[in-house]
Amino acid sequence: PRTAGRDEDGQLVVGGITASELAERFGTPAFVLDTDDLRARARGYAAAFADADVYYAGKAFLCTAVAKIIAEQGLAIDVCTGGELAIALRAGVHPDRIALHGNNKSVAELEAAVTAGVGRVVVDSLVEIERLAELAERAGVRQRVMIRVTVGVEAHTHEFIATAHEDQKFGFSLSSGDALTAVSAVLDRPSLELMGLHSHIGSQIFDTAGFEVAAHRVLGLLATIRDKFGIELPEIDLGGGLGIAYTDADSPQQPADIARRLLEIIGTESSRAELSAPRLSVEPGRAIIGPAMLTIYEVGTVKPVALDGGVVRHYVSVDGGMSDNIRTALYDAEYTVALANRGSSADAVLSRVVGKHCESGDIVVRDCWLPGDLVPGDLLAVAATGAYCHSMASNYNRVPRPPVVAVAHGAAQLIVRRETLDDVLATDLGWIEPSSAGS
Ligand code: LLP
Repeated sequence: PRTAGRDEDGQLVVGGITASELAERFGTPAFVLDTDDLRARARGYAAAFADADVYYAGKAFLCTAVAKIIAEQGLAIDVCTGGELAIALRAGVHPDRIALHGNNKSVAELEAAVTAGVGRVVVDSLVEIERLAELAERAGVRQRVMIRVTVGVEAHTHEFIATAHEDQKFGFSLSSGDALTAVSAVLDRPSLELMGLHSHIGSQIFDTAGFEVAAHRVLGLLATIRDKFGIELPEIDLGGGLGIAYTDADSPQQPADIARRLLEIIGTESSRAELSAPRLSVEPGRAIIGPAMLTIYEVGTVKPVALDGGVVRHYVSVDGGMSDNIRTALYDAEYTVALANRGSSADAVLSRVVGKHCESGDIVVRDCWLPGDLVPGDLLAVAATGAYCHSMASNYNRVPRPPVVAVAHGAAQLIVRRETLDDVLATDLGWIEPSSAGS
């Protein structure tokens, strides 16, 4: 986070508070949110996309406090379940500033969205169009919708693939004509108002080329829709996916540069197709919350393991792991880690930060160099854990989920408390032998 630095003892300080004080007050592991950093990033996106709408993708991480902060900076929110919708509403986000996503929203979720009056529902299947139309009709409202289309672009980090066909669960295929069938299905239902098309091409992307191909294809479809149905849809959403720096090897682009490039493409492609340029929206999640949080762990054991060639690797075990950050195990994600409670002049040793779970794939940081004098009780900080860590946390091995502590200007506030063992065991109802229960 932006306010992270070191004090005179070499200790990590974030939001004006030392890592040791945070660990003492809130325990470890703990997620720490730098709220100044979050505000600055949210404002930065709002400013860069001033002529567009920015929906914060709540799946990256959502709690009431974050939803409030995000909305205060002028961002809208993208939710993809009834749970995320409930948080956004509880935070007081204006329903008009909420979009609901999902390839299999339940009837209850659709009904909750229609009842709340969410601004956009992004429809993903023909059966959902029918369900939503009926719910809106019954509620006596006209629900605004976007159609999720599959543009045949898949992007990750520095690479993207553009194909005609994409074999995946989301959206209506553009190349097969399914997208046009969906348009006609929505237009047939007076209780639905078609606002535009939505596309999402991937995540942790550094190169705008994939977005450019997507924009080109979506605008092509807008032109086809105009020719076939005689209407010009006013909006396109190009989804999320803007990458962040997890390590020094990552070089993300500035939001202003991305915005300029996208608006340029939309401008030129629209005028080529003789369309009036649609209003753009985007849905960054990771880029807004990711760098604003870090995780503090306590070291429990340091085990030197001899590798081939006389090399030694230190296995540094911390008090969390794949239950609070599954990304390393799941995606081979890379993170930056540092000693947090003190400075050290010891030589750096090849190290691997591992968790406390009962499997060897439970790795937080696969390869790193940490001071050779780490001892139990030292604190480690892992950077950029704001996105898809707490939100994907689990109770694996019956481990309670860590808290989220918001820090700024020397003050700390718990915004998500640590789960207790009672929380974890609360759903476990025990077992009574059916015979003795009398049934
Ligand atoms: N919009 C839609 C429709 C999405 O599906 C997603 C992410 C986003 C926006 C936000 O993408 P972002 O800007 O955060 O990259 N669990 C994975 C990431 C899954 C992303 C799913 N969809 C991870 O930890 O990397």
